[in-house]
Amino acid sequence: MKKTLLILLILCAGSASGQKFEGLALTPPMGWNSWNHFACDVNEQLIRETADAMVATGMKDAGYRYIVIDDCWHGERDSLGFIHPHPGHFPSGMKALADYIHSLGLKFGIYSDAGWKTCAGRPGSRGREYQDAMQYAAWGVDYLKYDWCYTEGLNAEGAYLTMRDALYEAGRPIVFSLCEWGNHEPWKWGRDIGHLWRTTGDIAVLFDGYVDHGAWKSWGVLQIIDMREGIRQYAGPDHWNDPDMLEVGNGMSVNEDRAHFSMWCMLAAPLMAGNDLRRMSRETLEILTNKEAIAVDQDSLGIQGFRAYVIDSVDVWAKPLMGGDLAVCFLNRGKKPKRIAFDWKKHPIVDDFAEKEFRFDQTEYRLRDLWKKKNIGTTGKVLRFEIPSHDVLMLRLTP
Ligand code: GLA
Repeated sequence: MKKTLLILLILCAGSASGQKFEGLALTPPMGWNSWNHFACDVNEQLIRETADAMVATGMKDAGYRYIVIDDCWHGERDSLGFIHPHPGHFPSGMKALADYIHSLGLKFGIYSDAGWKTCAGRPGSRGREYQDAMQYAAWGVDYLKYDWCYTEGLNAEGAYLTMRDALYEAGRPIVFSLCEWGNHEPWKWGRDIGHLWRTTGDIAVLFDGYVDHGAWKSWGVLQIIDMREGIRQYAGPDHWNDPDMLEVGNGMSVNEDRAHFSMWCMLAAPLMAGNDLRRMSRETLEILTNKEAIAVDQDSLGIQGFRAYVIDSVDVWAKPLMGGDLAVCFLNRGKKPKRIAFDWKKHPIVDDFAEKEFRFDQTEYRLRDLWKKKNIGTTGKVLRFEIPSHDVLMLRLTP
């Protein structure tokens, strides 16, 4: 009798042992992902060259760490069910690739799907979660993006929980990125399961509008920003809202790329570059490596910003930062340049969620322009400036 009880207890303890690896993403993850620029055209040479470029361009110095191969790295499962990379595209295997990436001081990420197949039709992890997690751990994977195609009839929370437990059981700390497009409100249940969760469908290389693919749409920067207002209270250190990977350098104008990047920083979004790091314009690199903008994203309070005011075509976004600082970003959504005269004293910033107030009639703040990298006065005076169409004025305020 005692023996049966003991076995039962061990079994129960075993099944309840699943948890997420804590503390892997205390600030939003930064890195690069292959999908936005290369889609299925991935191979080990590209990944190695990208890792090299991340170091050589200074992106590693700016904080980027993860090199993530998205869909289409897969070959077949072997007779025991273990997944292998495509032998023609990854002839040296994933372990060798991971070792190379690690030798540069970077981290290695991979992609799978909770369903039968990935979105591009490669083998999914359904029914093979523990086996795949073991394989990833053996390869030296540090980050898993887990998609949601071919999941008819699956319960989202349960499916992501299964993979979380499988990763934990495999024993290697792996950042778990939930890619379920916000369909089942993952911000409400994802906190103990993953480190970040996609909040929307896919981003497009587009500032304002959407691309219709028939069965689904991909979204412009403004649409993604607007689509999920009201979920900032669910984000914080180790559990982030993910508005999707960056399209900086993939074809929008420099103004639009700058506005896109600034807004992702205001949203405390994961910063996963999605362009070809081997061939970047000077402007693209300057945007991606603006350390003062990145510091807003990576601020250790981990507070997601919010829209504080709307002045015609201009949104005024605010994000409280460490040490009583505040980031303020004026975003011109319009098609024309916009002149602004902003009287700080008439525009207090009150963050009910973070319980912080910035009252400029009581405290004066110094203003720093994070793109011009210049101090531009204080909140004591009315701020007069013009913002080009689809661009920002991004400031850091210090009391
Ligand atoms: C989905 C995801 C994308 C990308 C593709 C790969 O659309 O949302 O980010 O991973 O699948 O097929």
